[in-house]
Amino acid sequence: QHWEMLLHSLGRCTKVWIPDPDEVWRSAEIIKDYKEGDKSLHLKLEDESIYECPVDPQGKELPLLRNPDILVGENDLTALSYLHEPAVLHNLKVRFLESNHIYTYCGIVLVAINPYEHLPIYEDDVIYAYSGQNVGDMDPHIFAVAEEAYKQMARDEKNQSIIVSGESGAGKTVSAKYVMRFLATVGGSPSETNIEAKVLASSPIMEAFGNAKTTRNDNSSRFGKYIQIGFDKRYRIIGANMRTYLLGLFYELNTCAEDFFYTSQGGDTSISGVDDADDFEKTRHAFTLLGVKESHQMTIFRIIAAILHLGNLEIHVESSKDTCTILNEDEHLNNFCSLLGVDYSQMQHWLCHLKLVTTFETYVKNMSWQQVVNTRDALAKHIYSQLFKWIVQHINKALHTSVKQHSFIGVLDIYGFETFEVNSFEQFCINYANEKLQQQFNLHVFKLEQEEYMKEGIPWTLIDFYDNQPCIDLIEAKLGILDLLDEECKVPKGTDQNWVQKLYNQHTRSQHFQKPRTSNTSFIILHFADKVKYESEGFLEKNRDTVYEEQINILKASKYQMVASLFQDENNAAPSTSIRKGTAKLSIRSTRPAIKSANKEHKKTVGHQAICSLCTSLTTQQIVKILNLYTPMHEFEERVTVAFIRNIQTHLQERKDPPQLLLDFKHMFPVLFPFNPSSITMDSIHLPASLNLEFLRKV
Ligand SMILES: Nc1ncnc2c1ncn2[C@@H]1O[C@H](COP(=O)(O)OP(=O)(O)OP(=O)(O)O)[C@@H](O)[C@H]1O
Ligand SMILES: *[C@@H]1O[C@H](CO)[C@@H](O)[C@H](O)[C@H]1NC(C)=O
Ligand SMILES: *[C@@H]1O[C@H](CO)[C@@H](O)[C@H](O)[C@H]1NC(C)=O
Ligand SMILES: *[C@@H]1O[C@H](CO)[C@@H](O)[C@H](O)[C@H]1NC(C)=O
Ligand SMILES: *[C@@H]1O[C@H](CO)[C@@H](O)[C@H](O)[C@H]1NC(C)=O
Ligand SMILES: [Mg+2]
Repeated sequence: QHWEMLLHSLGRCTKVWIPDPDEVWRSAEIIKDYKEGDKSLHLKLEDESIYECPVDPQGKELPLLRNPDILVGENDLTALSYLHEPAVLHNLKVRFLESNHIYTYCGIVLVAINPYEHLPIYEDDVIYAYSGQNVGDMDPHIFAVAEEAYKQMARDEKNQSIIVSGESGAGKTVSAKYVMRFLATVGGSPSETNIEAKVLASSPIMEAFGNAKTTRNDNSSRFGKYIQIGFDKRYRIIGANMRTYLLGLFYELNTCAEDFFYTSQGGDTSISGVDDADDFEKTRHAFTLLGVKESHQMTIFRIIAAILHLGNLEIHVESSKDTCTILNEDEHLNNFCSLLGVDYSQMQHWLCHLKLVTTFETYVKNMSWQQVVNTRDALAKHIYSQLFKWIVQHINKALHTSVKQHSFIGVLDIYGFETFEVNSFEQFCINYANEKLQQQFNLHVFKLEQEEYMKEGIPWTLIDFYDNQPCIDLIEAKLGILDLLDEECKVPKGTDQNWVQKLYNQHTRSQHFQKPRTSNTSFIILHFADKVKYESEGFLEKNRDTVYEEQINILKASKYQMVASLFQDENNAAPSTSIRKGTAKLSIRSTRPAIKSANKEHKKTVGHQAICSLCTSLTTQQIVKILNLYTPMHEFEERVTVAFIRNIQTHLQERKDPPQLLLDFKHMFPVLFPFNPSSITMDSIHLPASLNLEFLRKV
């Protein structure tokens, strides 16, 4: 069938796409036969102008064929005769601009365009309309994907995973929420436990604490989330369980706090000046629904306020440069201590001093300004991540059920690929995680597609898909970027600059690594989605993120029970994250060694916490592990939404660099291409003699 269609369209199609610096792709009609050796191709553009398109003598670089108009607007991209960049873009553009269709299938994948406005397509009656229907009978929709997962779970007795991917701001979190809402609606039970409502209530909380404003997305997820919704034998929701991967959120905390919270006034520990009363109320309501006590809620907000004050305290540098002090009356430290219920003078002392324990003696050393700043920031992040863990644990407790779970549907929503003007460690972690996710995507989708063709007897050969293993190796292999970073952290006088120099020496020949011509402090990685330049400054410190035991001990002694409890088990907490107590054996230990304090003399200092290994290997290893554990190859059902930023029109016209939309396509779609291009030979196709199409690049 596909072959027939291809033949058919080849016979009729005389239109092509030519690259254009402004419009990206322009449509053109071939108006004169091309003969071998011709130096140009005679084309008529849509504005009726004639264009002689130069072609290289070998006829290798020739325009791409345009799909027959009758196919444009198809709701499944695989129905197109030609599935290449201009074809995909054009089809999505037509659907989106002409009929406001944001959803399109591409085989088993759902492609979603972020409309950036509320469309009336998510109401309950739409949910009911999709419920029980077959995918093929309805317009593409996120609900159709959710329904399909639900149906397959019930009919085929298979657990399901829905993976939402796409760059930052593309709409992943929104999509994941719609999936959850669909499932909560169709899988809701009349019982009084109200479990669906609780499952949905987890979202605003997680967003309040795990989102932050970035230039790409006002509520960008700074954590990855895998939520597993459990069903009983009758396919009613009975509970849920969530796993999260928090990034070093602290850097954005200030803006995010502005968005949801308050600032505590003076020594007063009450919460005042709530900025966004609405969101704040929503968060509190959700907390209450999930059984978080009023007093605990207050403590949570106090802790947030305390962290903000910690970031503002004044550090005075003494005349001898290696000594710092914090005044006896520092307003911010005072607030910090009273909010957390800890001792002022001890905190004041241990923020500026370091206890060193050697075999022979114990002594106290003054910290430099930089050291104070670094350890303070590490402490703030640590407090925040402990709080985040506490919240997740509580949500999980509220969503837990003692009833045996018959099956589940998991939804994975991680932070999306991102690139800014200046990219640092956080972007590196995020993009590395996405690189790993993309690899999973490639493997699974690729395999599924091929099985599909075999089943339908469609001729196929191995498709040469974009394999990002080399890029992953560059990052995680021995002597790779992370390995060298850890090594540099261990060197007593290690610096970002030395590390980046080592990267240059080691990797300049790598396909995925570049040294920028104009900088000797940054490096470029060619990720699957984009080329990203990272500034090395701060990598070492952020990777190290050492928290000192003396500071933690003060917090442990807090007069507030909840604050104290956040820091228990500190001593045996290796940098391994036990995702949730009492569930499957999913406690994953870092494959990388814990990052020990750099300095020899620091070595004996107990209680160092290498938190940020959480951001790198652990985070991604866990995601990958979860993908593998819960989505075994042989029964993998994948639904992916790839969503894109802004509207296509703007992007095509502005031609911003890098045109993210295009880059995404380049790397998402080749995987799904239904034929091996080179397997089509012109000999096997009978063409009207008048139409010499041989020159066209067949894709
Ligand atoms: N289906 C949709 N309809 C209307 N608006 C949407 C839709 N999807 C996304 N948006 C808008 O886009 C914004 C960004 O979406 P979202 O937060 O889901 O992105 P994300 O992919 O999760 O990004 P990040 O990786 O940064 O977390 C939303 O706040 C919302 O305003
Ligand atoms: C996300 O950001 C937009 C724009 O600022 C805002 O209107 C919306 O309410 C936010 N969504 C959530 C869940 O906070
Ligand atoms: C360490 O700091 C204290 C003040 O906190 C100061 O009195 C002392 O001289 C400093 N020691 C050194 C070695 O600089
Ligand atoms: C689905 O997951 C549940 C646990 O949640 C498990 O008991 C069940 O065996 C799984 N089903 C299949 C088909 O693997
Ligand atoms: C990096 O470049 C700056 C100026 O561009 C130069 O001063 C510095 O020595 C260089 N560093 C190294 C390690 O090459
Ligand atoms: Mg998100």
